[in-house]
Amino acid sequence: MPVASAARGGLEYWTRRAEELGARAVVNIEHPVGRDLEDLTAEHRSVVLPALAALLDGTERVVCDLGCGAGRFTADFAALVGGRAIGVEPVAALRALAPQAPGVSYRALQPDGRLPLHDGEADVVVTVTVLGGLVAEGELAQTAAEVRRVLRPGGLLYFAESVSRSRQYEHWAPRTLEAYRSAFPWADLAEVAQFDDAKDPISVLAGRAGI
Ligand SMILES: C[S@@+](CC[C@H](N)C(=O)[O-])C[C@H]1O[C@@H](n2cnc3c(N)ncnc32)[C@H](O)[C@@H]1O
Repeated sequence: MPVASAARGGLEYWTRRAEELGARAVVNIEHPVGRDLEDLTAEHRSVVLPALAALLDGTERVVCDLGCGAGRFTADFAALVGGRAIGVEPVAALRALAPQAPGVSYRALQPDGRLPLHDGEADVVVTVTVLGGLVAEGELAQTAAEVRRVLRPGGLLYFAESVSRSRQYEHWAPRTLEAYRSAFPWADLAEVAQFDDAKDPISVLAGRAGI
């Protein structure tokens, strides 16, 4: 079945999409096929990295890049904090495409949905267009609980996620800022940037974990 008409979300969907599209599986399928992936990634990076850099307080050393896909930004996050970045990605074929770099490691999501990090191991948890893919009942709540577990008290949550008002696909659930604030009530999320991704409005939301 072509990806664009895939009827359901979840890991099966992302595995099939990776088999079909390779590294392009991680970007919005509405981008024209001729759109260069490196160029598109550079465009995303130009928003995601400066807005994150502005929020760091200099104490951060470990970033969890949750749903890192083929690691488009994982090495950037390690470099930004001058420390480590742990890319967490459930799809093995995408982890295999992710570039190795100093301070970077990639880990699988555990089969029960737990994140492969110790309690409080991360100073920062980042997602770039990942939470919108959590469409199954309870999946966002489970992920939110895991994010809270692995983030140290006072650690930074930083999400670039789709906030479109219309739901185009079964595999993608855009949510409002209010919906994210209520899924992460302990983080006091606020919008710090925005960008357009193939006409999908992306909000960059950030907040620190309440102590
Ligand atoms: C649209 S892609 C974005 C990948 C990457 N953040 C980027 O911007 O290049 C969404 C990613 O989330 C991953 N994913 C799906 N379910 C997940 C889950 N429960 N926890 C973490 N990641 C998940 C998918 O396998 C996929 O790689």
